[in-house]
Amino acid sequence: ASKYRPFAPVRLSDRTWPDVVLTRPPQWCSVDLRDGNQALIEPMDLARKLRMFQALVKIGFKEIEIGFPSASQVEFDFVRKLIDEDLVPADVTIQVLTQAREPLIRRTFEALQGARRAIVHLYNATAPVMRKVVLGLDEDGIVELATSQARLFNELAARQPGTDWVFQYSPEMFSGTELAFSKRVVDAVTEVWQPTPGRKCIVNLPSTVEHSMPNIFADMVEWMHRHLARREAIVLSVHPHNDRGTGTAAGEFAVMAGADRLEGCLFGNGERTGNLDLVNVALNLYTQGVDPGLDFSDIDDIRRTVEWCNQLPVHPRHPYVGELVYTSFSGSHQDAIKKAFAARKDGEAWDMPYLPIDPKDLGRSYEAVIRVNSQSGKGGISYLLESEYDLELPRRLQIEFSQVVQAVMDASGKELSAQQLFELFEREYGVR
Ligand code: KIV
Ligand code: ZN
Repeated sequence: ASKYRPFAPVRLSDRTWPDVVLTRPPQWCSVDLRDGNQALIEPMDLARKLRMFQALVKIGFKEIEIGFPSASQVEFDFVRKLIDEDLVPADVTIQVLTQAREPLIRRTFEALQGARRAIVHLYNATAPVMRKVVLGLDEDGIVELATSQARLFNELAARQPGTDWVFQYSPEMFSGTELAFSKRVVDAVTEVWQPTPGRKCIVNLPSTVEHSMPNIFADMVEWMHRHLARREAIVLSVHPHNDRGTGTAAGEFAVMAGADRLEGCLFGNGERTGNLDLVNVALNLYTQGVDPGLDFSDIDDIRRTVEWCNQLPVHPRHPYVGELVYTSFSGSHQDAIKKAFAARKDGEAWDMPYLPIDPKDLGRSYEAVIRVNSQSGKGGISYLLESEYDLELPRRLQIEFSQVVQAVMDASGKELSAQQLFELFEREYGVR
């Protein structure tokens, strides 16, 4: 049983709250090794790719997009390495991306020779600006492009019957495409693939660029969910980006609106402002009492691995993982946290002021929760002395000593550690 309370929807009016709350996790797919990788200043080499893959497996991802094998030799070699060295666990499915271009698709299937099971992900742009300016195709031309390449998938897969194939199609820039046209293209592709409930294909709806508010994106997903042909034979996936800073919300609303699966990256890496942050969504679920099925119990280890693989730092204020997110400097926050810790009984539901999640659940300690600088008060100072040095100050002494501490910090402008506070206390009063 979870120690977190399920989110209870509050109905203020028919329009302000959704009817649905998330009660189970979506199917997760990490695209760190593809979308995340293609956005890096220095794309991962084989060693970094392998380390990221192993970290994703350890977290519990069962579907992992491992690259774009027709894009570069490193990408191709990484797919081969995983297959040749039998590095993919039996319950994990690798996924690879290809553009809807014949030579690239042939090279992609070549990379996958001998795979036990693979998701092959086909995409082409569908939005008006891409049709007109980039591809120079009208609507019929786009449908022809998608369906002809989908047919090539059938043909190449039939030549490699030893692999359990799953096909995925993305109308790139779905968020900027007319809904009726998105449906037309997707229906045409699934007509070629003929999925069944026992043998589903994946339809992935990307907000390649986040064009709209998350509720609008979710409405578009819901429309597709209600109108797609062969819906019972489709895993409906979404792939939000974060251009408006609302990738997490877009993903959560999309699942409420009917999506079955979420694609994203750890800590929101990815093109421009990033992909949907998988950790954020998973831990949002966790703090609502829903087991996400992913293990973040040593989140700092995961952060260090991701920082090494991506060669990019995670921001100190990043939700759930940032260095400072379980830290309070302000006196009133410290006071409330101190009182709540003192009152908390084992087995009680988590209800801690200013701490939406128990840092221990992510392998973080309570030590960093309260830190003392010039914004802090006596509560924080006495908490640190008590928790780190077993030094319990009477209330009058707390007040007096906090003025000494305040004067030191006003002069220096710097934070004081528990040890520095203890030394100051010793100097000031000569004794313990
Ligand atoms: O953002 C996007 O549209 C993509 C597709 C290739 C799925 O990454
Ligand atoms: Zn993307």
